[in-house]
Amino acid sequence: MEPTGSGYLGFEKVSFSWPNGVNIIDQCSFSIVKPGLWMLVGENGSGKSTLFRLISGVIRPKSGKIFCSLRPSMVYQNPDHQLLMPTCKSELMLSVPKSISHSKLFDLIQSALEKVDLGEMMDRPIHTLSGGQKQRLALAGAIVSNSNLLLLDEPTALLDPQSQNSVLKVVKKLTSSSVDPITAIWVTHRLEELLVCDGAAIVKNGGISTWNSGSKVFQELKSLALR
Ligand SMILES: Nc1ncnc2c1ncn2[C@@H]1O[C@H](COP(=O)(O)OP(=O)(O)OP(=O)(O)O)[C@@H](O)[C@H]1O
Ligand SMILES: [Mg+2]
Repeated sequence: MEPTGSGYLGFEKVSFSWPNGVNIIDQCSFSIVKPGLWMLVGENGSGKSTLFRLISGVIRPKSGKIFCSLRPSMVYQNPDHQLLMPTCKSELMLSVPKSISHSKLFDLIQSALEKVDLGEMMDRPIHTLSGGQKQRLALAGAIVSNSNLLLLDEPTALLDPQSQNSVLKVVKKLTSSSVDPITAIWVTHRLEELLVCDGAAIVKNGGISTWNSGSKVFQELKSLALR
């Protein structure tokens, strides 16, 4: 498996253990070769968040290789653990690369807010946003930082159905845009979300299954639950 193109993520026989010594990721190989919305499902403790830490480079494999030509950003379950500043504008200022000139700052932030359907929210205090709006602000932070790989770890677990849909819709739009579509990997326990992804896989026994259509994985997991 060789890295190709500009948007590539690949694992080659990657293993990782936390200090207890068990390989929670064990000879794991997979690749994502094009932008889109890719979803992962798996039981609690199967290693999904550990995989995200490996992809983002926070931890390193014990063995094997990771190829990543993308710039990753994490989005967590609870936006209150991620957002730090009083207003949308000041929050996004934190993520702007240092190379951006002062004159381009406003436009960059405004355009990121528009991409996540928060165009009117520049000066809005963050504590007045709904959960879905906060998650979309976290997405805007990833956009202004010039990330092109979103790692979304159960981003809708704490949201009501309407907010859940608003986040899903924005991520779908960002990953299927005709101009510079990005790659998103989305961990979910909410199986209905699988129906909108471009591919889904199951994390199990330290590895990842082959990519399948979201509806196929949805059916498979539903039938297992009914047994
Ligand atoms: N920082 C850590 N130190 C030690 N062990 C850890 C650490 N983080 C995770 N683990 C262990 O690694 C295993 C996999 O955890 P991980 O959080 O990756 O699972 P997960 O699939 O994301 O689970 P969930 O669906 O509950 O979020 C678990 O046994 C967990 O206790
Ligand atoms: Mg997790």
